[in-house]
Amino acid sequence: MRTILFGRPIIGAEEKDAVMKVLSGPILTHGPLVKEFETAFANFTGAEHAIAVSSCTAALHLAYFFLGVGPGDEVLVPAETHVATAHAVELCGARPVFIDSESRTGNMDAAVIEQRITKHTRAISVVHYLGMPMDMKRVVEIAKKRGLFVIEDCALAIGSRLDGVHAGLFGDVGCFSFYPVKHITTAEGGMVVTRRKDVAQKISMQRAFGIDRNVVSERKIPGMYDVQDLGLNYRLNELGAAMGLQQMKRVPGFLQKRRENYETLTAGLRGIDEIELLQSSHGGFQSSYYCQSAILKEPLRKKRFEIMDSMKRQGVETSIYYPHAVPDMSYYKNKYGHGDGTCPVASRLSDNAIALSVGPHLGPDDMNYTVDAFKNAIREVK
Ligand SMILES: Cc1ncc(COP(=O)(O)O)c(C=O)c1O
Repeated sequence: MRTILFGRPIIGAEEKDAVMKVLSGPILTHGPLVKEFETAFANFTGAEHAIAVSSCTAALHLAYFFLGVGPGDEVLVPAETHVATAHAVELCGARPVFIDSESRTGNMDAAVIEQRITKHTRAISVVHYLGMPMDMKRVVEIAKKRGLFVIEDCALAIGSRLDGVHAGLFGDVGCFSFYPVKHITTAEGGMVVTRRKDVAQKISMQRAFGIDRNVVSERKIPGMYDVQDLGLNYRLNELGAAMGLQQMKRVPGFLQKRRENYETLTAGLRGIDEIELLQSSHGGFQSSYYCQSAILKEPLRKKRFEIMDSMKRQGVETSIYYPHAVPDMSYYKNKYGHGDGTCPVASRLSDNAIALSVGPHLGPDDMNYTVDAFKNAIREVK
């Protein structure tokens, strides 16, 4: 029997050596590796500015902090996402207004965005669901027309491109995650990218208390700096940056493997009548292939956990993206009085889908094994 883990960070000798080198030296934070990592990330994505932070949640929070959203403001967010997308809005005292998914890709339904804009709306937050890029040209057009700020939550979108432009560079701010199951990892970590110099300058100060000199070597007199703004402590440390720099060298290989795995897995899954699959890369839309999500059709919907359990017994770990549509989560339901099914397409995805790994730790035989295990599981529960 094989063991197929959903996520398995690939940490080689290079990462280990780089981390040990940091541990053997005097600088654990405020050092040069964060800057080098930012440069490598900017080069890969094509961003004018990249600012390393402690998580994607921190990046999202900083984006709203920069914008100064607060009580009385509204931000449009997709219902089908990690709760961090909405929490970042809540943390500022503003209200997340949930937009349902389109059933073709699972991305936020662009056709609904304009209907939900009110005089209180300040921003649109977009998530590239499972790495499939959202039609950003449409979002930016609406945002420009209505004077709104655009945040791209790119937690699953390293390598996602639309007409060759990397995700995160269409809006005002793009926010990435380096949590262990993501495309690359720094254990915990994140990155803000932006084309806007004003955003970059302010966010790089606000991630570190609003201090004007972040890297120790920039301080002419040790310990001397000024505080120009209100800020948080959302820095990435040198250990994470050392890992991230090595991981960036692996990104092209990781993406290639993900694509190949996705194609092998999807070809096998197409033979299963009981599931639906979301649309992935086509034309100028290039996915980052975070995972494949199989949506169970009617007779099998109630058997989802049994299917997942059977796959686990066959050695295949699965997951769910995301466990509930955010407006169906207790915190949001209790606070705003949403009933289940406020966003029916998002709820359907959360309630019926099983996520299957295509991570670079796996190969074609693992994909074929996953398909067979899925078929066995369906046979078993029927
Ligand atoms: C869409 C999305 N946004 C934000 C996050 C949070 O990322 P982090 O753990 O780096 O804060 C996640 C995590 O899975 C995510 O999927």
